[in-house]
Amino acid sequence: MRTAKRIEELPPYLFVDISRKIAEKRAKGEDVISLAIGDPDIPTPPHVIGRLCQAAQDPKNHRYPESEGLPEFRRAIAQWYENRFGVALDPDREVLPLIGAKEGIGHIALCFIDPGDIALVPDPAYPVYSIGTMFAGGSSHYMPLREENDFLPDLESIPPDIAQKAKILWINYPNNPTAAVASLDFFEQVVAFAKKYDIAVCHDGPYTEVAFDGYRPVSFLEAPGAKDVGVEFHSLSKSYNMTGWRVGMVVGNAKIIDALTRVKSNLDSGIPQAIQYAAIEALTGPQDCIEEHNAIYQRRRDLLLKTLNRIGLRARPPRASLYIWAKVPEGDTSIGFATTLLEEAGIVVTPGIGYGRGGEGYIRLSLTVPDGRFEEAVARLTAWHERKIS
Ligand SMILES: Cc1ncc(COP(=O)(O)O)c(C=O)c1O
Repeated sequence: MRTAKRIEELPPYLFVDISRKIAEKRAKGEDVISLAIGDPDIPTPPHVIGRLCQAAQDPKNHRYPESEGLPEFRRAIAQWYENRFGVALDPDREVLPLIGAKEGIGHIALCFIDPGDIALVPDPAYPVYSIGTMFAGGSSHYMPLREENDFLPDLESIPPDIAQKAKILWINYPNNPTAAVASLDFFEQVVAFAKKYDIAVCHDGPYTEVAFDGYRPVSFLEAPGAKDVGVEFHSLSKSYNMTGWRVGMVVGNAKIIDALTRVKSNLDSGIPQAIQYAAIEALTGPQDCIEEHNAIYQRRRDLLLKTLNRIGLRARPPRASLYIWAKVPEGDTSIGFATTLLEEAGIVVTPGIGYGRGGEGYIRLSLTVPDGRFEEAVARLTAWHERKIS
């Protein structure tokens, strides 16, 4: 049997070593707390589950869904965008439901990338942008996200010959893994750059609803002209604690939406309808759950930040997202330090290098662990540091 080159080209799974060590520790009966994954611990709101159960009882929802989603779901997405961002969308041409944002992010490369084509991809970044590009036969030109530039890419430093060849530009704010946010002014610069070089912009924005201290992240589509050049991926995963139900959307430029609809209609048969009804309920029902969840994450953020500062790990207070991006001690590597925390404190964090070379020197800590366990993790970090300095 000979597998395709793309399977061999997949980067080695960097967490294999750490996963093996976690398994060994757990086999010995040791308790390990994972701050490694951004998967909300808070359940999906009860009114959403109620609607899901009701819809699951209806035989009309037991059949194949349409790839392009229920018209009422597309309308609910358009209305939500109008209410939240003041962005007007045509539900029939500018909205496409997805089986989670990840699915669309992976597949959109098939709409733009021919073998040899280039995508502009941030570094560090959610890995699917570059993997999708590679699966389509293209290559990624990495745009470093540097702390001194507030983790925004420096578009001016992209060589013009690369920009001329590039077909897609990926951006993601609030950002995973750095937790940085972007202003409308930055998105306006992105629109101008995309127009200059005729590049499609894919903005990935699943964390716009997870924000702190009253901050309200903006949508890329709020930038004038954004719809002429790009789309925005969004998701119900983080906004409504629905990671397990797999439902998201892409909205914006009608030509891009049409291309992705054509790809998807040849690959999948849409989102189970009961889940689409649950998603409609989430988008159109009471929204208080968002503030309630954010208050929980904010308390955890403050507690962890205080502890990280006390033990000498520098981290900027995030204004949004589910993460804290902290610098590892001078002279250590991200994998080395993550391994130390696992071995000596029983805590799992994500080494920054897992998101690309630009992530070296950092670890990512997630806020999605139930309060009691989260407090235990913080106490372990403090105790570990005290042992180290004593
Ligand atoms: C930046 C980013 N984009 C997309 C996703 C995937 O979201 P979904 O659950 O909707 O597939 C994630 C999930 O962690 C993410 O961090």
